[in-house]
Parts: sequence; C-alpha cells; structure tokens
Amino acid sequence: MPSSLFTPKRVSGLLILGSLFLAFCGEPAADRPQGKLAPLQPNANSELAQAMRLLDGELVALLAEQAPSGNWDGATLSRLPLAELAPTDSTMLVPGFQGFALAFDQHVAAFNEAPSEATYQAVVNGCLSCHQRACPGPVSRIKKRRLASN
Ligand code: HEC
Repeated sequence: MPSSLFTPKRVSGLLILGSLFLAFCGEPAADRPQGKLAPLQPNANSELAQAMRLLDGELVALLAEQAPSGNWDGATLSRLPLAELAPTDSTMLVPGFQGFALAFDQHVAAFNEAPSEATYQAVVNGCLSCHQRACPGPVSRIKKRRLASN
C-alpha cells in the first residue's frame, strides 16, 4: 500500500467526516444509559440534516481558507430553503422555526453580498439562534465555527 494514501489532507478530511457523525439534536452518546449503542448517524439523512452538513462544511472551509488570510473576496455560502426541507421528526419544527430560517437566509444573503468577518459572524449567530431553540445538540460544535477574534 503506497504511503501517500494517508496524506495529512486526507487524514484531516477523515477527521472532519468522523466528527460529522457525532452531531445530533440530543444529548451526547456518553450520557445515554449504558448498554445501548448510539446509532452512528442518529438524525439519519433527512433533507434538513443533509443541508446542515453541507452548510457546516462550508463554514469549516471558510474558517480554513478566508479567516486566516483575512481576505473574504469571492467567498459564498449556499442559500438553501431550510423552511421547506423535511427534518427527522416534527418536534424539530418548533414555533418560530420559519422565522429563524428566514432570518438565517437574510444573513447568508448579506454575507454573499459583502463577505467579511462581520457578515460571517452574523451567519454563525443565525445558526446558533435557531439551534438554541430547535436543536441544541450541535450548539457547542457550531460555536467552534466562530472566528477566533470574536
Ligand atoms: C432554522 C433553523 C436552523 C438553522 C438556521 C440552522 N440549523 Fe442546523 N439544524 C436545525 C435542525 C432542526 C436540525 C436537525 C435536522 C434533522 O435531524 O433532521 C439541524 C441539524 C444540524 C446539524 C446536525 C446534522 C446531522 O448530521 O444530523 C448540524 C451540524 C447543524 N445543524 C449545523 C448548523 C449550522 C453550522 C448552521 C448555520 C450555517 C445551522 N445548522 C443553521 C435547525 C437549524
């Protein structure tokens, strides 16, 4: 097997992929009763969960590329119709969900219009506003998407 199979880039890709499997709305698996295995991907592949993974990956890429250089020119985030995507279960559609989705879309639009530290940070805050109400599990992970300077 060629040693180039495990380049640092690939290994970090695998780590990112691995960490994606740990995010879900509920409590961390370690807090669950013993003897019950947490499913690898608790939120399965709902449309909304897939959209979230895409967005989260985009934030990771921006943090790695734009944030260190401070040059945000040309950076964009996908605008996804979050309010129209089906979640894993209806308890996630808390009152205000549509409003959070709309507000979030405005933050993404503002970022795409004028990508900068400030508009990036507003996007991450938009992620957090909805998550604190609708899906607290990934909150600590989303906080890691904040810029170090904030
Ligand atoms: C309008 C509300 C809302 C906004 C805004 C939002 N999320 Fe979510 N997010 C959810 C809900 C609800 C789920 C659970 C989806 C499911 O399991 O079907 C979720 C799931 C996730 C997950 C877990 C996905 C998985 O693998 O199961 C991650 C990670 C995540 N969101 C990150 C983000 C990030 C990063 C942003 C901002 C770029 C964001 N979210 C914006 C509501 C939101």
